Amino acid sequence: MRYYSLDEIKNWERFYRANFINCLTGFKPVSLVGTVSKEGVPNLSVVSSVVHLGADPALIGYINRPLAAAPDTIQNISDTGHYTVNHITEAFFTKAHQYSAKYAPEINEFETVGLHASYEEGIIAPFVQESPVKYHLKLVEIVPIAHNQTFFVIGALQAVFLSETLVEADGFINLEQAGSMLSLGLDGYAHATMVQRLPYARP
Ligand SMILES: Cc1cc2nc3c(=O)[nH]c(=O)nc-3n(C[C@H](O)[C@H](O)[C@H](O)COP(=O)(O)O)c2cc1C
Repeated sequence: MRYYSLDEIKNWERFYRANFINCLTGFKPVSLVGTVSKEGVPNLSVVSSVVHLGADPALIGYINRPLAAAPDTIQNISDTGHYTVNHITEAFFTKAHQYSAKYAPEINEFETVGLHASYEEGIIAPFVQESPVKYHLKLVEIVPIAHNQTFFVIGALQAVFLSETLVEADGFINLEQAGSMLSLGLDGYAHATMVQRLPYARP
């Protein structure tokens, strides 16, 4: 095995380093976060840092990059308190990737890139019509991480939209069947293939 020292890594070109470090944590779920500005402009952002924080109460978090890199989604979430998370599938991942581009806040990203917004009663944030697994979160807390100017954005689950046929007898959601993709590094997209489910581990 080749040894990579932190000194060597620190001296790499910035995108090379970002790709390398981003790959280290492995394949990640990849979703579009849907928000709306206080002026009413809908927005989407690609996010691969979504993490389960707890099931009761149902809390889900993601890491928002520093404001200079990713300003709009976090602004909309803090202004409106509501957002959606929409799984990405192979049917639309190339379009979905385009939502990582830095559009001005007044641009309607749905119209510009071409995925379709859909709305559910009583929920102001837009969903992605093309996505087979999506849910609505209400902002609980934005935790600033002083060390690198990122934010841990925590939301409480409010509602879930998916086909009942994806849900197995014990509540397990078959995301392979849904076609939910994974991402690796800055720009790699992959399929998930289940190998096996195992029984609850006991000592
Ligand atoms: C595969 C992939 C994963 C990404 N994951 C994140 C993420 O977890 N958090 C984040 O803030 N930005 C992430 N980004 C970058 C945002 O999509 C990008 O900065 C976007 O322009 C933010 O939009 P906003 O200004 O609406 O917040 C990711 C981009 C790609 C392509």
